[in-house]
Order: sequence, then structure tokens, then C-alpha cells
Amino acid sequence: MFYRSILTTTSGLFRGGIAIVRNMSAKGRYQIYVTRSDMPESGVQLLKDQCDVNLWNQPSPVPRAELLKEVAGVNGIYCSLTDKIDTELLDAAGPSLKVVATISVGHDHIDVAECKKRGVRIGYTPDVLTDATAELTLALLLATSRRVPEAIHEAKTGGWVSWAPTWMTGPGLAGATVGIVGFGRIGQAVARRVKAFNTERIIYFNRSHRPEEKETGAVKVSFDELLTPSDFVICCAALVPETKEIFNKEAFEKMKDTAIFVNTSRGGTVDQDALIEALKTHKIRAAGLDVTSPEPLPLDNPLFKLSNCVVLPHIGSATIEARNTMSELTARNILAALHGTDMPAELK
Ligand code: DGY
Repeated sequence: MFYRSILTTTSGLFRGGIAIVRNMSAKGRYQIYVTRSDMPESGVQLLKDQCDVNLWNQPSPVPRAELLKEVAGVNGIYCSLTDKIDTELLDAAGPSLKVVATISVGHDHIDVAECKKRGVRIGYTPDVLTDATAELTLALLLATSRRVPEAIHEAKTGGWVSWAPTWMTGPGLAGATVGIVGFGRIGQAVARRVKAFNTERIIYFNRSHRPEEKETGAVKVSFDELLTPSDFVICCAALVPETKEIFNKEAFEKMKDTAIFVNTSRGGTVDQDALIEALKTHKIRAAGLDVTSPEPLPLDNPLFKLSNCVVLPHIGSATIEARNTMSELTARNILAALHGTDMPAELK
């Protein structure tokens, strides 16, 4: 059984003359806010077993005003990458807040410095989604290079007139040079997988050398050295100030005009207008995107109209297994932080 500190039990709100003590339940249990109704149940149940859990009642991102209202006085927030955790939100939650845990490995939606300043611990979900995201990266790589969505469309709409020797052709991975930007867990997992396709060379761009390069024979190069020879350029880098729009006009100009660009990290790593231009003018051959700016991508966005672009709705980690494990890890992060013990995956 968890009990809050005196400090948190006495904090509350005063609205319209009625004292609303948000973080106190009759049973003296911790108060947790979950920002969607459709977070995988296994994690939510772990929280429910030990805490009072209040969930946004829709399977969609909680509106900002509602979020600000609902977090007042809570001890923990279970959020996702669509919830901005910033000063305003932390102010709205107040001093009772001990932990924010996101069901994602990416944490660009969280003001980490501000959380640290206030002693709010942060949980995230590295490792458990690595295989899922690497698998999806390969799916996107093949769907884009082998023009799978286009071919399905042709087959269904009468474009399939006969077997044809040059129709629907695209480059193969065998013999190709693959450049991976960001050689963390997911970049490495992608390298291991593309190696199995008999690629000629794997190169990577990363802040530091990674010992894991040995396993795949991947070679660390500069960003420019990666762009120029790569047949496939894959972005697996976290969105941080140094990677913001790293794929800009200059970057696309340095790529081969036969290059295929794949992004499964964050849309913010790409100057999307520059990408649209590069695709329209065939400066590069094609792009496969699981992430865009904004998300969801508006239906009238030019990327949807380009036959050389495959857009997926940010489903990198969407295996059933990964999402369940991510939810459980998010819950365990919250419980550990409330206990004041080591969190299984704390962002430090
Ligand atoms: C993450 O975890 O950051 C992915 O983008 C969504 O699972």
C-alpha cells in the first residue's frame, strides 16, 4: 500500500469557494492520471492494483485544457508522445507530482530540464520497442524500394495488364550501401537486419563510436560521408537540437538521385518542404516515412500525392507485444518512482 507524504496530501485546489483536494483518496492511495482511455490494459491494471487511476475517457489525445485541469494534485502522470509535458503542465500538476512516465522511447515532448529542476522523475520505454521499430523500418524500406503500395494499387485498379519486364521495378538491398543516421539501439537493430539482405556496406553517423559496429561491420563516417554514397539513407536518430531538420535541402542535394530515404524516428529531423521538393524533382528516388510534421499529416499534404512517397501513421512500435510491454514498463516506472526506488527505465 502506498501512502503519500504529508506535503502531497495537504496540497489541493480552491475553485469557486469549494476546496477540491485532488490528491487525497479515502484509502490514502496515490493519484495517477492516464492521458488516454486506450493505453494497453496490462500496464493500467498494474497501476489500478495499487493507486487511484483517473483516465481520460476517450481513445484519443486528451485536449490540453482537460489535461491541465485533470493533473492538478496528482502524484503521477502516464502520458504518451502526444502530450506536451512543459512548465505550464508541471505548474498545473503542482508540487504533488513525483513522476511523469511516457509510453515511448522518444522524449522530445518532455521538458526534461524543467522536470529535473522540480524533482519530477521521468520514465520512458527504451529497449522493449527496439525489435518492433527495427522490423517496421525494414518493412518501410522494402515497401518503398519495391513500390509495394503502388503495386497493390495497380493490381486492384486494372494497371496489371500483363507481366512486364521493367514495370514496377525498384532497387534491391543486395549489394547496396546502407547509411544509418543514429546508431543507438534501433539503428543497430536495423543494421543487423539489413545485413541479412546481403548489403555491400553499412555505414553510420553517430555522435560516438559504438562497439556494436563490429557485429555488423558497420563503419562510422561523417554525415556528409554517409549521404553521398548511400543507396538507402535511414534516419533512426532521436530528435534533439543537433538533429533538428538535419535532413534539409543541402542534405538531400548531397544524396544520390537514386537514393531512398526512410525515417522512423521523428518528423522533426526533416525539413519536410525540402523533402517534398527533392521527391518532386527526383533529386532522390523515393521516401518512406513513419513519422511526419505534423502528426497526423493533413490529408491535403503533398506527400500523400507523391507516388514516390510511402507514409505510415507512426506505427514503428506497434506490435502487440511491444505495446503491452511498453505499458507495463510505464506503470512499473511510475510505481518505482512513487516508492522512491530505482525505476526500471529512468531518463536521467
Ligand atoms: C517512441 O517510442 O518514441 C515511438 O516513436 C513510438 O513508440
